Formats: sequence, C-alpha cells, structure tokens
Amino acid sequence: MLTREENELLCRVGPDAPMGGMLRRYWLPAIVSSELAADGAPKRVSLLGEKLVAFRDSRGVVGLLDESCPHRGASLVLGRNEECGIRCLYHGWKIDTGGNVTETPPEPEDSSFGARIRTTSYPVEERGGFVWAYMGPAGTMPPPLDFEWTAGPDTHRVIIKVRAACNWLQTLEGVIDSAHSNFLHADLLVGTAGVSTTHLKDDGAFARPSNDGRPKIEVEDTPYGFKYAAIRRPMVDADTKKYVRITHFIAPIFAIFPAAAGLVNMQMFVPLDDENTMHYFVKLSLGDPIDDRQREIHMKRAGTRMGLEIDEDYNMLRNSENLWLQDRAAMESGASITGINGVTTQDVVMQESMGPIYDRTKEHLGASDAALIRMRRLMLDSVRRFTADGTPPLGLAEPIDYALIHARERLIPVDAPWQSIDDPDPSTGLIEAHRR
Ligand code: FES
Ligand SMILES: [Fe+2]
Repeated sequence: MLTREENELLCRVGPDAPMGGMLRRYWLPAIVSSELAADGAPKRVSLLGEKLVAFRDSRGVVGLLDESCPHRGASLVLGRNEECGIRCLYHGWKIDTGGNVTETPPEPEDSSFGARIRTTSYPVEERGGFVWAYMGPAGTMPPPLDFEWTAGPDTHRVIIKVRAACNWLQTLEGVIDSAHSNFLHADLLVGTAGVSTTHLKDDGAFARPSNDGRPKIEVEDTPYGFKYAAIRRPMVDADTKKYVRITHFIAPIFAIFPAAAGLVNMQMFVPLDDENTMHYFVKLSLGDPIDDRQREIHMKRAGTRMGLEIDEDYNMLRNSENLWLQDRAAMESGASITGINGVTTQDVVMQESMGPIYDRTKEHLGASDAALIRMRRLMLDSVRRFTADGTPPLGLAEPIDYALIHARERLIPVDAPWQSIDDPDPSTGLIEAHRR
C-alpha cells in the first residue's frame, strides 16, 4: 500500500511533476522508426504529458518538435513534410528538425524575424528499430541505451505496440509480477512435463516446466534497479529441482524477462501522459530472421493484430465502454479462461480495468507482490533524492553495460542459490558484432 502522496509522486509525469522531471533524464522510446518515412506523413507523439510531432525529413533525419506551430499554434501534424522541413498549413511557416524557423512566407522579403525563433526540438537517436528521445536539460544527457536486442537487425525483431489507457506505473507493475502468469495467461502458458525451459508450441501457446501458481519471489538490487527470481516447483523431480525465472527491472520503464528458446524479450512502458502509456513488447530472434508468417503468429499471440484487435493509432478495439469485448461464451464453453485472447491484450485489459490512475491506498499486497513493492521503493527513493539534492536518478550514477543483462530461466537443484543461473556473459555474438 502507498500513501496518497507517494502514489501521486510515482504516477504523475508532466513537466512540473517530480517524476516527470526525473524521467526526462533518461532516453525514452518515442516512436518506431519504420513509422516515419522520408518526406512522409508526420506522426503525433505524446511523451511525458507533452504533445509532439515526429517526422523524417528529405535527408532521412528525424525531428521531434512541439506539435504546436511557433507562429500561432496550428498543429504541425497536419503540415506538409517537404524539402527538409515541415511546413505549417496555416501560413506556410517552415520548421526544420532542429526546431529552426527557416521560412515565414507572409512576412516582408527582407524580414529576419523567423531566424530569431526556435521551437522546442528534442534530441533523438535511432537504434534497435526505435526513435529514442531525450527531453531533459542539455548537459545531463546519458549515453543512448544499447541493449542486446537493439544490436540485432530489423529482420530479426518483432515490435508489438499497443496503447494502454492508464497510468504507466500499473503497466510496469504487470511485468514484475510473475504470479499473474498462472492465472491471467493460463490459456497460453501451459505447464508441461518433460520440458526444461519455455518453448513455443505449434498451436501458438508456450510450454513451460511448471504449473505452480505459488511462486516464491526473491529480489536482489542491481545498479540499474533489481533482478528478481520467481521460484516454482517443476512438474517433474519437484523434490530435487526448482524452476527459476529471473526478470530484470531496469529503471525507469524497462524489463527483460526470460523468452522462449531462441528469443530475447524486452517490455517498455512509455508514459504518454498521466493516464496513457505506450506498451512495447520487443522480441529479437537470436537465430534466423523472423518471416511474415512468424510475425503474424507473434501478433496473434499478443492479441495486437492491426485492424482486428488494434486500430492504426495502436488503440485496442476493446475498451472500458464495451467491457473489453470479453467473450463470456468462450469462457462458458471452456475455450478460454478469460474470454480475452492474446497475452499482451490480457495484461493491458487488466491494467486498464484498474482505472486511469489506480489508487494504491486501497490495495492489499501479499508475498507474491514483493518485486513490485521493491520497484516502487527504489523509484520513490530515487525521485525524492533527485528532487531534493540532484542525486542522479536510479541507474544513471555510473555507466552500465545494458547489453550484458540477460534474463535466464532454468531447472536447478533445490538447494542451489537462484543467482547461480545468472551468467553475466553475453549469450550471443550480436553485441560484439555490433561494436566492431
Ligand atoms: S500557425 Fe503555423 S504558420 Fe501560422
Ligand atoms: Fe502478463
């Protein structure tokens, strides 16, 4: 349980909120790179309570500007993206990716008026198939994030993207909460005797070596947040072995958790404003490229097929008004436990159903909530110290080699420490190849 003050402190992300100030010190994913074509349609982006426009200019350079035209405020999302800038439809002002006003056509020919005007333009970096933005003050920009999955080529990556109509914290809490997987995802995560790690099955579900719904949660702090183990009794050899899954929370919005064999997983929960979050689920294949058919299976399993389950702006067709289109008939027939198809959709529906900003003065946390309790404590401590005396935010005090963070799962002897499976060596040659 949190106090009202603590809940507000954690949840609010606007420019004047303490958490908003701290989150602006990190690189955050703003949009997927492939959504922006050179001289193509500008895209509306919300980030930390600010309304922005993203576009790729004629040279391929991405700009991330205030959505509002610096002349008199018309939306630049409606603008023409041409000849190295975005031209406002209203009076033809043109703004480049750096936020410079390069043309003001209605002004006298000898006017230098535009040259003195600059609009908000945030620094961006492209890596891992994303445009990342830095919205903090100049001079405090950390190095861009290099995860294992950002090093892989686009052909090997699937990006699942869906907007959750709720606060970012409740979406992040979903991924550091192993216990819910036995219930909410029971249709798609199937305890299977004889497997030693999570495997994709032909029917689109996952087989894993345990169906134990009472995982023991143990947490250990790291310089970037923490790692935690969910420890379960396996279906085979339960007296001599335990099934351990390790998930890493990486401040402020990231989690790496064990993937099915041959894949790397990451989830990112980008606060758009106080009541909306972009949920990204990235999977990287460590082997072959991911072909169109496999891509379709990943999207179907997530429940995020465009046109069928989400619209072009990544909103779910399910929402609070239509009771998330829950299929009670499928529940009655036994075809579905939840009446909601798709792992990601199931998560987002639960999180939206908690309300736009969940009131954590009302909750009752148990032993299985240990990891999210730790996350809140670390983030509260960090935001309080950052606000009080400028202490660097969690994970930014020292350089961190994010590419070495791996999420493991394994069956190990019951008396072995769970940390013994957390091998720090890179599991692939991807990172080395990328750095050469
Ligand atoms: S409002 Fe954009 S050019 Fe006038
Ligand atoms: Fe989940």
